[in-house]
Amino acid sequence: MFISPSGGPFLVWTLAVQLVLCGVYATDNTDNCKLVYTSETERNFLKQLEPLTKKNFTVVDNKGNESYTYIFQVCGDAGGVSGAGVIQVDNKGKDKKPTVIGMYTATMVIGGSDWVMLIYKNGETYDGHCSQEARTAMIMISCNRKADTGTLVVVQENREKKQECFYLFELDSSAICPVIESKLSTGSILLIIGLCLLSVYLIGGFLYQRLIVGSKGMEQFPNYLFWLEVGNLSADGCDFVCRSQNREESPAYRRAATEPIDEQPEERDDHLLPM
Ligand SMILES: *[C@@H]1O[C@H](CO)[C@@H](O)[C@H](O)[C@H]1NC(C)=O
Ligand SMILES: *[C@@H]1O[C@H](CO)[C@@H](O)[C@H](O)[C@H]1NC(C)=O
Repeated sequence: MFISPSGGPFLVWTLAVQLVLCGVYATDNTDNCKLVYTSETERNFLKQLEPLTKKNFTVVDNKGNESYTYIFQVCGDAGGVSGAGVIQVDNKGKDKKPTVIGMYTATMVIGGSDWVMLIYKNGETYDGHCSQEARTAMIMISCNRKADTGTLVVVQENREKKQECFYLFELDSSAICPVIESKLSTGSILLIIGLCLLSVYLIGGFLYQRLIVGSKGMEQFPNYLFWLEVGNLSADGCDFVCRSQNREESPAYRRAATEPIDEQPEERDDHLLPM
């Protein structure tokens, strides 16, 4: 088999292009989040959440005879409420006016190797609980390679305290998983390698046949006779396997065929067989 020595660099180049294409995110919507305390570290954790922006995450929480819908957005207007990162809608309530749980204009972020915790402060004040302080939303976003964008889950509503109450949510997402691994799966890398080798084989073999051996027409394809034989053999195999009735023994076929045609096929086949 003919394999060009330029196969290696070509492969590396193809993979590099793939990786660059996967890694580029031009815009940064997380800039919309205003940090309570300006911090480079928090900003960097926020940037990891870029793939989750511009999306309303919704969850319905039924507890006893209460039913609330929560909507969450990363650095964007949750449910369209200006400045709100998390809102709550009372499904049993008379008016469907949403309660703001936390504002992305008052954001705090902490994080680790494979998780980021978003804290939205300055929500609407509690009516009776928690010394009537402003509500706070906490969203724990954890790496889960199987979850794509993930679904929002209500963990708890902690309001039976004097202060520092919070609403806690959970979101599993592959977006914040450590970036060591490329976005290509092993299967697609093997596929790319296979396609590269095939094209190198075809192009290199074609040039070799044309320029060095000096073939013309169909014979410019590399190993033309070999593939011709493979084609004929698989056709024979298919014929043998797939045909339900043996051609020679089928009386109907025999009767229908006229004599001159009966002999010709064997002659016509002959030139296809390799020497
Ligand atoms: C709803 O549940 C609360 C206790 O959680 C109870 O006091 C109230 O009566 C219930 N309301 C209805 C309409 O069932
Ligand atoms: C989020 O929901 C609100 C209200 O339904 C809608 O106006 C807004 O366009 C949604 N945003 C996205 C990014 O889907």
